[in-house]
Amino acid sequence: MSMSYQTRSWLQVLCAGFGCVLASTTGHAADADKAKEEGRSLFAHQWVAGDERSHGGDGLGPVYNERSCLACHSLGGPGGAGSVDKNIEILSPGEDFSNAGFFYAFSMSFGDEGFQYRFGSPSPAQAKTVNVGEIVRLHPGFRDAPSVVLHRYGPDADYRSWRESMPGRHGSIVLRTTERNPPPLFGAGLIDTIPDAVLEAAARRRFSAGSGVSGRVSRLADGRIGRFGWKGQTATLREFVLAAATGEMGLETADRRQAADPRIPPLAAPGLDLNADECDALTAYVAGLPAPRVVEPEDAKSERFVKAGGAVFKSIGCAQCHLPKLGDVDGIYSDLLLHDMSPQLSDTGMYGIFVAADPNPAAKRGAQAKPTGAKFQEWRTPPLWGLRDSYPYMHDGRAETIAQAIALHGGEGAAAAQRYAQLSNREQQQLESFLLTLAAPKAQKP
Ligand code: HEC
Ligand code: HEC
Repeated sequence: MSMSYQTRSWLQVLCAGFGCVLASTTGHAADADKAKEEGRSLFAHQWVAGDERSHGGDGLGPVYNERSCLACHSLGGPGGAGSVDKNIEILSPGEDFSNAGFFYAFSMSFGDEGFQYRFGSPSPAQAKTVNVGEIVRLHPGFRDAPSVVLHRYGPDADYRSWRESMPGRHGSIVLRTTERNPPPLFGAGLIDTIPDAVLEAAARRRFSAGSGVSGRVSRLADGRIGRFGWKGQTATLREFVLAAATGEMGLETADRRQAADPRIPPLAAPGLDLNADECDALTAYVAGLPAPRVVEPEDAKSERFVKAGGAVFKSIGCAQCHLPKLGDVDGIYSDLLLHDMSPQLSDTGMYGIFVAADPNPAAKRGAQAKPTGAKFQEWRTPPLWGLRDSYPYMHDGRAETIAQAIALHGGEGAAAAQRYAQLSNREQQQLESFLLTLAAPKAQKP
């Protein structure tokens, strides 16, 4: 910190003494280095309440899931995936229909009154509408989103018992938690640059009748295409980075509000935790994380084995969704489209983060997730690059091995999973060794 501050004042002196042309060209490269270093250090910084890095805000929290980005994104190096103990928890209201199972509430309207909740069931006679007030009393975040993040940590000792009291039955409503596993961020900057038209073209592909595969772009409420997140719920990398800072760690920014404590009337943050330069620097750091690499096989024999595995990947239909190349991005193994993966992988639709009312509504800070339309059974095809280092697998990390992940493919992925099951042992091993060549980039400085 003090080093870069000195560099800057030195440049200012230069600017004052020798004219600004020289100083600003020199300053440009120095500023870029400084921003990169700033982004790296912000990604790793362990925030505390009242942090001295804050700009008049409250630092970490009041509610948060972890103290740093790095805490959840570190497998295979800084920016990597996270293990299941770093999963975030999402709370959703629903109803147990005694013999038909649990059903999430889904939104029927999103007006001034917030969401209206209706519990689905296979038989319309069993479907019922619940007054939004009943649900909002349990957690005020349900006013703006059908599911909300249930933060792991809160500001005081009572938070823990409040949190533990949330899942379960409350009168006629049942609250249930589900999870999301932290994905790796390597190559996210490249994903950010793929033109929308490429995703739209991917969605227009025609598959042979009976393949069961389709796929659609995740269209957000504002018309943009979502490409980040397990449900493709976010359009740009910058938005996701800021949503993570405000939502996971409770860092107030000018664009988005920090997560608030749902137990008390929310207080507006006293100031910003991250200023605009820091938001830029953090985004630039994540965008600049190197893309995953392909590990070269050790010898000609294993090269043939891996190559055969790549052929199997194509021939059994994995590449229908896990496209080896998307636009100019080679080796991504994803179409970034939503696919229906069967009730077995059903989970909530979009979720939000509870925030305080904005003291300056004119600023229109986009803190709340807007409905994306991704259905409970739909998931964005995860890029398979970096797979070797991003275990466990699937949206909640329920698969410990690649074989388990494949076996869990239902719905549009069922036919490919069946063809996988019919492969010989040797072909399955070939496929696996091919997938294991997809690795995190060489270790970066933490
Ligand atoms: C508590 C763990 C946790 C922390 C802390 C955390 N993340 Fe994440 N991150 C996740 C999870 C879980 C997801 C997936 C969420 C989803 O898609 O619903 C995710 C997804 C992302 C994505 C989207 C990646 C993609 O390809 O879809 C980005 C970008 C990201 N995080 C950046 C960050 C940054 C930057 C920070 C720090 C400001 C951060 N995260 C802090 C858990 C975490
Ligand atoms: C219909 C599209 C589709 C097809 C075909 C398909 N997948 Fe997937 N795959 C997905 C989606 C969507 C997910 C994420 C599901 C979830 O998280 O619940 C996924 C997840 C995975 C994962 C876990 C990735 C991670 O980061 O957690 C692996 C590994 C995988 N697929 C490999 C394969 C292989 C191998 C095949 C061929 C046998 C295949 N897939 C066929 C869509 C598809």
